Amino acid sequence: MMMWWMKKVVVLVIMMADVVASQSPQHSWQQDAGGGVGAVLEAVSQPTCSLILLTTSPSTIFKEESVVRGSPWGVGVFEVVVDGQDANETLVLLSHLLHQARQVRMGSRCVRVVVVSHDPVFLDTFAEWSLKGRLLVWATKLLVVTSLPLPQLHALLSSHWTFSMMNTILLNLDDTPPNLRYSVYTHLPYSPDGAQVLRVAVWTPRHGLRLLTALPLFPEKFSNFHGAEVNVTGKPWPPYWVEEQQEAADGSLVTIYTGCDYLSLETISHTLNFTINIIPTASWGEAVKKVEERVAFITAVFHVPLPERKKKHDFTRIYEYNQMSFTLAKPGLKPSLDSLFYPLTGEVWAWVLVVLLFMPAIYYMVSRGREKQCGRLRVAAEVLEVMGILVGQNLPQQLPPITSGRLLVVAWLVFALIIGTVYRGNLTAALTLPKYPPRPETVEQLVDTVHKVTMPPFGELWRQFFAGSDSEVYKKLARMMMIGPSTREGLQMAIEQNTANMAARRYLSNMIVEHFTEADGTTRLYLARETLFPGQSAWPIPHDAPYQSQLDRCLIAIIEAGLYEKWSDDTVSQTRRRSQRRQREYLAQQLQQGQQVVDETAESDKSIIALTVTHMQGPLVFILLGLFLAGVVFAVEVSMTYNK
Ligand SMILES: *[C@@H]1O[C@H](CO)[C@@H](O)[C@H](O)[C@H]1NC(C)=O
Ligand SMILES: *[C@@H]1O[C@H](CO)[C@@H](O)[C@H](O)[C@H]1NC(C)=O
Ligand SMILES: *[C@@H]1O[C@H](CO)[C@@H](O)[C@H](O)[C@H]1NC(C)=O
Repeated sequence: MMMWWMKKVVVLVIMMADVVASQSPQHSWQQDAGGGVGAVLEAVSQPTCSLILLTTSPSTIFKEESVVRGSPWGVGVFEVVVDGQDANETLVLLSHLLHQARQVRMGSRCVRVVVVSHDPVFLDTFAEWSLKGRLLVWATKLLVVTSLPLPQLHALLSSHWTFSMMNTILLNLDDTPPNLRYSVYTHLPYSPDGAQVLRVAVWTPRHGLRLLTALPLFPEKFSNFHGAEVNVTGKPWPPYWVEEQQEAADGSLVTIYTGCDYLSLETISHTLNFTINIIPTASWGEAVKKVEERVAFITAVFHVPLPERKKKHDFTRIYEYNQMSFTLAKPGLKPSLDSLFYPLTGEVWAWVLVVLLFMPAIYYMVSRGREKQCGRLRVAAEVLEVMGILVGQNLPQQLPPITSGRLLVVAWLVFALIIGTVYRGNLTAALTLPKYPPRPETVEQLVDTVHKVTMPPFGELWRQFFAGSDSEVYKKLARMMMIGPSTREGLQMAIEQNTANMAARRYLSNMIVEHFTEADGTTRLYLARETLFPGQSAWPIPHDAPYQSQLDRCLIAIIEAGLYEKWSDDTVSQTRRRSQRRQREYLAQQLQQGQQVVDETAESDKSIIALTVTHMQGPLVFILLGLFLAGVVFAVEVSMTYNK
């Protein structure tokens, strides 16, 4: 609260005190203007309003009581003395002054700006520099007090954004005393009769302020565009903005626009009653540049309000949380011997081994009764028998003669049954549904696993943004970013070179569905679970765009009705259907061309079920090892027999 009260103190900045004597004629018309200004200010006054007064000569306006009454929170007076000697110096002064005026405007709740000058050159300069210096927003009401012939006044009002589009009225001295009369003019860029300058009120000392039309003193200019064309930029960026060439009834090609951002724009255009005029642009940079230059009013595709971007243009309200995410190729299976082992845990293997060591011994002891009948080789036979039961290849040819021996065999059979079934079952499952190696899902894992992250040209801003981060992880990410390839090329690189590609989540999933998904719905890419950046997104609009509140109002209505999500889902499912139809058509076309393709599809079918060497490496290595061992032992045996 303290802050606000301090602003009440009158700010008095007087630049260049050497007033040139030849300027005295201004005083006569200015003295009388005070009453008119006071009347206007009182008419639009609010309890927290303050006033910024900008004049080219010492002004008496703020001495008028009604002016002070209309600005309860104080008056700031800024004076520029134009002595016409050095235009550059005046410009420097003016920009410095506007900067200070802007500080006052930003520190106040409600500001009216009054500019007093009868010099059209100064008014031109002010219009230009107040735009550059960002003095005005729509909520700031600007009153220009001047004395110009009508044609000049019309030209002035309609040729500057500050006067034509912003919340500006012009108080013009029409008649000098004794019939003193001031008229209030405003420029309406969009009216039923197109752009026009309108005389909305008149002020005379005797009758005060009289409104001449049904419009308020400061009319709302952007609630209805009355069908006028509004320039918009946008480029294909599915599912936000989709362009499709279609043949019209008369055979000509027309572009059909869809996508959730375009549909939002279309709905807004119906509400605000304007016609969308899409300006063709070559790149995203150009599309946004048109908005900076105010040639286009909106770039109607989401942009994340990065600090770098905010220096160049403003944004509508945040209407979408467009998470930045990344895509990588799904990691393939690495051939490994593990496949034979991982059906059981190490602990289980250890216990099986222990049991396997003790079992033959116990078995041997229990069935020692048979030993007498069949000579010395019994131990090896017992081992073989126990092993045979375990792997399900053998049953004891002869049961032990004593009950304890039979019980032992039964126990071993049950154990072998369970272990064998479990192992075989798990092995089958593990081979058909192999365990994929872990894949990067978070930023930390991303920067540790890949060597390059690709992003389209507009990613340069993101790289700078990440590079300026305090986090080491994001700095590292910035260093490995490669700016240039389009998203489609980036995704292709992800498959071929194992790089990552970064973009908005919805866009990536749409891209994968459209270009990187097989007819059977499988894809080699995956979208990371974690997001890189919670990308709040909005549409770029020029700095201090006066129509922002109208756009925001419509955007909120769209979001609150849940329409945006619905349009987004619709667009993605349309893409999916289109992509599937295209693949089916492609297959059908190929089928017509010959048998050859049938083999191809058969092969692709086979590749889904067949187990590869990658899966079966374990058993193959195992048998090779066995053959090798047997070979070595055989060689030793042969040599021993030979030596005898
Ligand atoms: C004014 O500025 C312009 C461009 O900045 C420069 O070319 C010109 O020489 C300057 N004039 C004076 C009088 O300094
Ligand atoms: C929209 O603009 C057209 C063209 O000026 C006009 O005829 C129509 O009445 C306007 N619609 C609304 C709802 O204002
Ligand atoms: C809209 O774009 C056209 C070019 O397509 C341009 O001539 C026109 O001046 C633009 N309108 C505005 C208001 O800038």
